[in-house]
Parts: sequence; structure tokens; C-alpha cells
Amino acid sequence: MAKIRNIELGAFPLLLAPMEDVSDPPFRAVCKANGADLMYTEFISSEGLIRDAAKSRQKLDIFEYERPIGIQLFGSEIEHMRMSAEIATQVNPDLIDINYGCPVKNVACKGAGAALLQDIPKMVKMTEAVIKSTHLPVTVKTRLGWDDDTKNVPEVAERLQDIGIAALTIHGRTRVQMYKGVADWTLIGEIKRNPRINIPIFGNGDIDSPEKAMAYRTQYNVDGVMIGRASIGYPWIFREIKHYMATGEKLVPPTIAERVDVCKQHLEFSIRWKGPKTGIFEMRRHYTNYFKGIEHFKPFRMRLVEAGSYEETLEILDEIAEQYLQMC
Ligand SMILES: Cc1cc2nc3c(=O)[nH]c(=O)nc-3n(C[C@H](O)[C@H](O)[C@H](O)COP(=O)(O)O)c2cc1C
Repeated sequence: MAKIRNIELGAFPLLLAPMEDVSDPPFRAVCKANGADLMYTEFISSEGLIRDAAKSRQKLDIFEYERPIGIQLFGSEIEHMRMSAEIATQVNPDLIDINYGCPVKNVACKGAGAALLQDIPKMVKMTEAVIKSTHLPVTVKTRLGWDDDTKNVPEVAERLQDIGIAALTIHGRTRVQMYKGVADWTLIGEIKRNPRINIPIFGNGDIDSPEKAMAYRTQYNVDGVMIGRASIGYPWIFREIKHYMATGEKLVPPTIAERVDVCKQHLEFSIRWKGPKTGIFEMRRHYTNYFKGIEHFKPFRMRLVEAGSYEETLEILDEIAEQYLQMC
């Protein structure tokens, strides 16, 4: 049984990765419905929270049915991270997560995210400050290291465990790799074999099928896996992995009608939460993924991304369901 402090997560939890502009409440709702065991908000800027910026504030919206849910924070200033953890604690999530993995220039070149992998003493101080500022469990998500020559995550794991983090998620790439190449879980497995490590270690990177989730679970002995890109437009990945792990058999993939149905739920929530204009606009990035691999889909996709109203979008989605009735 995996546990983060007193949060019980089942035998082998599947975590929904924090993803900027993706893992918002509408997307999380469809992932939760399909079996995600622990979810995170997209990362939230500590500076934004302190300034009370509307965009950052909105990302603090969490709902009762989402539990357990973590709020992820990032920043470069220790004091600002401490203050933002206090703000995040007020909305009562189940845990606070710190991002020490973001590789993008705007974050990592400004001393936040993966930049902290180059300054472990500062990372330790920042983590301590966040832990002291909240009664909630604090977890961390990071990468293997900055580059191939500085894969220091084994040291990071020990030092952050020693000051009290409650769990660690490791993405098997370096900062320099960004999202390129193949995630290497070797060091993640090594950390799991370290007898000094007793907090849950979650593996992340490239899990995109039940078979891979099962193979990596066995090979690296992680306490759970975190799934990002494979869930975008395919929230069924969670239930498919669960079913495979429980029975050794693969679930039949969702039918087109089911895809349409979940896409509609996602769209409705998007509009409810963001308002019609932004809700419809931001759904556009999801359509390709919801209908990936379907033959001759392009004309429908074009119409979906051009549709200006909820009603028009629904009509197109109904047409899709109708047209592909016999397909799975
Ligand atoms: C669009 C996108 C946005 C992301 N935003 C975040 C983020 O806000 N916080 C974070 O820790 N990681 C973020 N990541 C990284 C993912 O959480 C995850 O570590 C990475 O995608 C590898 O997992 P995967 O191979 O399952 O996608 C993001 C990734 C993507 C693709």
C-alpha cells in the first residue's frame, strides 16, 4: 500500500502529472473519472500568487471530488516560495508539491524549476522553508539532474528526505534533454534500492501503455507511476493500466462514441469554469488527441477548431459519433 503520510493511495497509484495549460479542473475531472489516484494542479508561480495575479489564483481552484490533490508551486526566491505555500495551504489541498524539474527557459533560466538542481544547498533551504510554512505533506518533483555529467538526483533524494519531504517523483530525463530522447529510469531504480530511502518514489517519463507501466513497475520497483502526455486526450490510460495490472488482460479501447462523450464532458466543464470564449478556445488543443489515429478525421478537426459556439461544437461532435458509429 503506497501512502504519502496518512493519504492512502492504493497498492500501485497512478498519478496524473502536473501539466501547464493542460491539467486544469476540466481535464482533471475526466482523468479522475477514469482512475487517476493522485492529481496535481499545473505549476503555479509563487510570484504570481503573492501578487494575487488572477491567472495564478484561478489555478488554486480545487474541488472536493478531486481528492487527493496536490498544488504544485515553483519559484526562485525562498521567501516567496514560503509565502506562496502559505497561500496554497489556505485552499486546503491534500499536499503541496514543489517543482524542481521545469526545463523551459523562462523558468529554469530564472533560477526556478530545474535550475535548483544546480544549487542543492538552496534547494534544501527552499524545501525546508516550504515544509515549515504548512501542516500539509510536501512532495517534490524533479529530474535526474541538470545534464549528463551532473545526474545528482540520488543526492537530492537523500537530502530532501532527511529534511522531511513526504514523497519524490522523478522524471527520467535531465534538464538539458528537455523532452527529447528516451526517459532513463535506471537512477530511479537505484534510488529505490538505496536502503536509506523510505519515502515513496514515483517514476515518471514515457509511460504510454499498460504493458510499459507493468514492465517499469517490475523492473524499477517504484511505488507508483506518474503519467503526463499519454493522458492528454486519452484519460482512459489510467483505467487501462489498472485493468491490465489487476487481470493481465487489455481492455478494449474506447469507442468513438465514448471519445465523443468524454470530449463533450470536458468541453462543458471548460465552458463552465472558464466562460464560453476561453472554454471553447482552450479545448481546441485537445481535439487532435481525443481523436488520434482515426482515419480521415482532418476535416472534422478543422471544423472543431473553427467552431465558435458550444452548440456548433456539439453538432460536429454528434456528427463524428454518427459517422464513425461502427468503429472503435
Ligand atoms: C504540456 C506540458 C506541460 C507541463 N507542465 C508541467 C508543470 O506544470 N509542472 C511539472 O512539474 N511538469 C510539467 N510537465 C512535465 C510533466 O509533468 C512530465 O514530467 C513529463 O511530461 C514527462 O512525463 P510523460 O512522459 O508521462 O509526459 C509538463 C509537460 C507537458 C508535456
